[in-house]
Amino acid sequence: MAGRGPAGKTNRSMNTLETGRAEIGHVPVRIWNGGRKGTAMKGMELGGKRATQLQATQPRTAGKKIMHGADYYPEQWLDTPEILEEDLRMMKLAHIDTVTLGVFAWAALEPEEGFWRFEWLDRVMDRLHENGIQVILATPSGARPAWLAKAYPEVLRVTQDRQRNLYGMRMNHCYTSPRYRELTKRIDSKLAARYAKHPALKAWHISNEYHGECHCGLCQEAFRRFLQEKYGSLEKLNQAWWTAFWSKIYTDWEQVESPSSRGEMAVQGLALDWKRFVTVQTKAFMDMEIGAVKAYTPDISVTTNMIGSFIEVDYPRLAPSLDVASMDLYPQWGSASCREVAMDAGFEYDVIRCLKMTPFWLMETTPSMTSWTEVGKLKEPGLHRAGCLQAVAHGADSVQYFQWRKSRGAFEKFHGAIIGHSGHEHTRVFRETAQLGEILGKLGEVAGTRCRGEAAVLYDWSNRWAIEGSMGPRKNKYYEETVREHYRALRSLGLNVDVIEEGQPLEDYAIVAAPMLYLVKVGLAEALEAYVEKGGILLLTYFSGIVDENDLCFQGGFPGPLRKLAGVWVEELDTLYPEEQGRIVSMPENSIKIHGIWTSRDYIEVIHPETAAVEAVHGTSWYQGMPALTSNKWEAGSVWYLAARAEEAFLKILYGKLLSMAAKRKKAQAGPVRQRKLPEEVELSIRRDGTYQYFFYINWGRRECTVKAPEGVELTGGHECRGELVLEPLGTAVVKAAYTERCS
Ligand code: GLA
Ligand code: ZN
Repeated sequence: MAGRGPAGKTNRSMNTLETGRAEIGHVPVRIWNGGRKGTAMKGMELGGKRATQLQATQPRTAGKKIMHGADYYPEQWLDTPEILEEDLRMMKLAHIDTVTLGVFAWAALEPEEGFWRFEWLDRVMDRLHENGIQVILATPSGARPAWLAKAYPEVLRVTQDRQRNLYGMRMNHCYTSPRYRELTKRIDSKLAARYAKHPALKAWHISNEYHGECHCGLCQEAFRRFLQEKYGSLEKLNQAWWTAFWSKIYTDWEQVESPSSRGEMAVQGLALDWKRFVTVQTKAFMDMEIGAVKAYTPDISVTTNMIGSFIEVDYPRLAPSLDVASMDLYPQWGSASCREVAMDAGFEYDVIRCLKMTPFWLMETTPSMTSWTEVGKLKEPGLHRAGCLQAVAHGADSVQYFQWRKSRGAFEKFHGAIIGHSGHEHTRVFRETAQLGEILGKLGEVAGTRCRGEAAVLYDWSNRWAIEGSMGPRKNKYYEETVREHYRALRSLGLNVDVIEEGQPLEDYAIVAAPMLYLVKVGLAEALEAYVEKGGILLLTYFSGIVDENDLCFQGGFPGPLRKLAGVWVEELDTLYPEEQGRIVSMPENSIKIHGIWTSRDYIEVIHPETAAVEAVHGTSWYQGMPALTSNKWEAGSVWYLAARAEEAFLKILYGKLLSMAAKRKKAQAGPVRQRKLPEEVELSIRRDGTYQYFFYINWGRRECTVKAPEGVELTGGHECRGELVLEPLGTAVVKAAYTERCS
């Protein structure tokens, strides 16, 4: 079943199938002609000839707005048409202006092969449009009809232990299967052809949460082709995978197979390449779907809903194919303090925002509770507003839910929805949703504005996969937790933080944090050097510069290609038992004037400064007195090396000092950077365009807080802000201020 994500609070882990997976401005008016002529229909033709000519009564996006919407499944209610009308009435009451349609509607659209039923969707699209609601229309490839699996068993996934799945659940398909690609392309094309000119069509939602892998014969062949292209020869592959180990040398391409718990698990280069291949196949499938709809609607945006930091798919590889990045997030409120959960949620938003560095869409979150979690916790009053505004604060141009109405039966009947089984609007969840809709209505001008990260955290899928897959130096590597610790420490200084992959430009950041940079790709060390050279501040930590892209250890001393930059040589890495603790003791004289003793845990490195200065030392065990924190001047910038997993309090102090240093150097070219003093429980995120800045404040705490804020207008209440705000528990405020240096 769905488990906790790496951070434990916001994300989901998925098993293979959704079987085993945890369930698992103005736009020109267009004329809708009821679907293109020639839509192939067999048997009953109900939706092909439509007399209705709907003139778009309003532009699809009249002015800027933050969309407010939900996944809508009218196909579950086709025998109760009155429900559709009730839905429309209540959607308007809830200020819903967008719905996502058709995500799992394949069986309703094509109940038998080649037998099409679009009439219900025509009607729903028309009625939504008549009611001023736009549609994000999905391609239905995420789940398929039973007839399809029966007729073409090759579409069903084969698990890593080489078992063909039975029909069931969703996402249970092979991305390589030509048959599945063909059938998907056919239905996608039909949808696109039919609704290309429908005035309700806002965007395409391509499939649903792409994930999972297939180990069938077709996938094995495709994997070998991928490897042949990558390596050219078996000799090169054998070198890259270090196959002389345990007699693994491949002498024929046919011998190469995907990793399996019943087979090869020992070759980490193979495991890494397999994960890369899975992303390549996922993207190829997605591109095929995008091509199918773009053929009819080249100007309609496409997106696919991603799952934040979900480790299976290398999202930065998918991003170039998308017009907009979108995501699903279900913060597990109640599993820890609101602030903790919110910090993790913020991280997830920033991962997805940084894929394209433009506003993203929050495609799914729950209006109340989830049904796949350990505990289905309700959101306490006020949390819905705070949680959803947080997404907007981090760059979302939409707040959409899973789901509008609870289904009566099956897997998700207890999942939160705006409309519950009572079927009416007189509920707390409905009221809070409608209130949020009203608030979003006041924030329209925020749409399209950007969040500019003042600091960045490097977070790269190859590094994550490699660390996770590495045998040693300890079982739990704590990589995901560590990245989030650094992110939180930077966020607590009131900075916008970008979470970027290693190829993204660095020059505008005051600070770049690269915790546990275990895998160093070709060119990364040079990019980091260039960043620091121009005055950048880089923080590196233990367990960095260990392997290349193939998981082959760098020879000649760690941190490998980062050694010159860090100015240290790492001789040994000690890892600690949970009950052990280390200490970090500041040097009596240190360049950043930190004074104190802090704890460290899990990792302690024995390092030797080469060109670096020692700023703090380890305070325990036989390495007592050896460097724990060093700094290395590098042209106009500096590199900081942290040789232990330090407690968060230390990280906050350290980043605070580094930030003051950056402020003095006026490093950030897009504006001055400085710490914004905030009460511990208050989160600040800033969105900007060339003229205005929008300061989003959220009080995640249990007591009222007063914060210093720029002078401007508080948009949600419509009152002036004179430099101070009082935020009640879970209180939010959005202050619009002129874009001047003074307010940043
Ligand atoms: C995912 C899926 C939805 C639904 C929700 C439930 O995000 O995309 O179809 O299952 O989970 O939380
Ligand atoms: Zn397959």
